[in-house]
Parts: sequence; C-alpha cells; structure tokens
Amino acid sequence: MLADVVVDLQYGDCGKGKITNFLCTQNDYTHVIRYNGGCNAGHTIYHEGKKIITHHIPCGVLHGIKSVIGPGCVLNVKQFFKEIKELEDAGINTEGLIKVASNVNIITDFHMIEDKEDTEIGTTKRGNGPAYRDKYGRKGVLALEVPELEEYIIDMYTELHENEEFGEIRVLFEGAQGFGLDIDWGDYPYVTSSHCTVGGAILNGVPPSCIRDVWGVAKVYETYVGAKEFQGHEPELEKIREIGDEYGATTGRPRQTNWLDLDLIRKAININGANIVVFNKIDVLEKAKTWILYDSINAFHFDTGEDMNYYIKDYINKFKPNTEVLFSGNKEII
Ligand code: IMO
Ligand code: MG
Repeated sequence: MLADVVVDLQYGDCGKGKITNFLCTQNDYTHVIRYNGGCNAGHTIYHEGKKIITHHIPCGVLHGIKSVIGPGCVLNVKQFFKEIKELEDAGINTEGLIKVASNVNIITDFHMIEDKEDTEIGTTKRGNGPAYRDKYGRKGVLALEVPELEEYIIDMYTELHENEEFGEIRVLFEGAQGFGLDIDWGDYPYVTSSHCTVGGAILNGVPPSCIRDVWGVAKVYETYVGAKEFQGHEPELEKIREIGDEYGATTGRPRQTNWLDLDLIRKAININGANIVVFNKIDVLEKAKTWILYDSINAFHFDTGEDMNYYIKDYINKFKPNTEVLFSGNKEII
C-alpha cells in the first residue's frame, strides 16, 4: 500500500482541491479519501471548463477513482445527496464510485441548529463542532445506521487491507481545513473540531509507513474566516482580497486577509513532514504589485514576485533541505 497526502499549511482555502485534482491526473490511485471535517469544507475545482464546488465528496470522482468519505469525517446526509445530484447534473458519472466508511459519524439537524447559535468562533454553521462533540461523547449516529446510505457504505478495514479488487492500494488523502485551524495545532479556540494534519490522515486506516509524498499547500498571502481579528491594517490587503476573490466557498463570507507568515509555514511543514510545498495564487500579488511577508515578527518587502519566491524557497530549504518548493497562479495547474 502507498499513500500521498494533501494538507493545507494555513487556514484553509489554499487550493487543496486544485492540487488533489492535479494529482489524480498524474498517478494511478485506487482511492481518494477525505480524511477529516464535514461540509464546513468547500473545495473549488475547475474541471473541463466548469467550476465545481464540493463539500463532502472527494474530487477523485471526477477522474473515475473510488472516492471515500473516511471515518475521520462527519457527514450531513442531505448535503451528501445534494452533491451527488450536482455532480451528475454537471455530467459526471458517479455510479459505484462514491463510498462512505461505515463508522463515519452523522451531522444531524440538531447539530446544525445548535451550530447556528455560535457567535464566538465564527464557525461555518454546518454542525461540525456539535457532531464531533457527540462522536467523542459516544452519543453519535454512525453512517451504517442510516438506511438511505446503505448502497454507499464500506467497511474501511476490508476496503484497505483485505481487498481483492486491486493488486495494490494506492491512496490519495484529501485534507480539509488547515494547520492554523487544527484542533491541536491551530490557534485554539479559533479552530475547527478535527485533525487537519497528516496525523489525521493515518487515523483513517493507512499505516504511517505507507506514506510517500506529503504535499503542503499554502497561498503567498493568508486568509482566514472566523470570529477573531486577523486582517492587517494596510489598504493593500483589501485590494488583495478583491483581486483574489477571497470570499468563502461554503458561506460566502469575506475572508480576512493578511501577509504570508513564514513562521506558521515552518511549523506546518515540520509537523506534517511536507516534502513538496506549493504556494498558490502568486498572480494575485503580481496584480496588486505588492510583495510582503512576515518571518516571525519582522516584515520583509520585495520589489518583485521572483525576489519574494526566492526568499521563501531559501527560508524553507534552510530548515528542511531538499523540500521541493513550487509557485503557482490561481488557475494554473501547478
Ligand atoms: P476548506 O477545506 C476555511 C473555519 C471556520 C471557523 C473555524 C471553525 O475549504 O479549506 P467549523 O465550522 O469548522 O466549526 O468552524 O474553521 N473553517 C474553514 N475556513 N476553509 C475551510 O475548509 C474551513 N472549515 C472551517 O470559518 O473559523
Ligand atoms: Mg474553504
């Protein structure tokens, strides 16, 4: 068995969907597995000229690859069927490809109602936190108990370890949210309720020794949606938000925008063991003609994007030599 993992190094919305979609075209995966979170995630993919936003379903389905909602996730059944319909309406054949692990916990209507009351964290109000609370409180409902899901249910152990269908299992793990939102490593309490690091991926049934590549995904600036004050005061940051179209894929909320923080990137690379790092949306800073980043508390200004990218690459290779560092524009493939 082997597995590649896509993780977000910042606060979500860094382009995980794009990288996952790209990897599906490059490698011969047997499974794409979403390993954490629920429909709080919103992954935007441009596929054959169409913009597709998925919340639950991994993008492997666009490539005819078995796409699994893993046991680290929580699932809203209505949203799940809505997404299947949207994919089918977009002409994508999902037949037999979408699977749900039997031990996924369900997001109930009560979880949604409760999450709507949140004012402190600025959640996506999708019932995520209450669903995980009930999971750990051992009061949850499992996917295998939901009759409508019957044809989608798989036993994750059998699927990965006793599977006659494939010679070798080759998994692509698609993460949701990001390091800065992680329940253990993020800025608590302004975090989500699940494990967004590689640690969260291996909880879904793949042993750590099988991990091959860890793709860390970031943007050349930061965005965050939630209740804490995050955005810097410079007017350029507003401009970057507009140029970058930084509005939530799930809730439509404007994303607070800030300069790249290399300190956070360093922690996220080290904790996840990322060996390939992609910085997305370099075209946005090009259009704004502003290149600024933070390295701990010091701000650095650059005259060109090339200068800034060189600095970033050098910074990363100093603490983690041989890390492949790539830069990419919004709609570029990589
Ligand atoms: P993707 O996968 C960006 C944020 C919420 C809030 C905090 C907790 O698209 O990158 P929650 O609803 O999870 O209890 O909210 O986490 N958040 C995200 N921000 N992208 C996401 O997912 C997010 N999922 C949750 O805005 O601050
Ligand atoms: Mg998002």
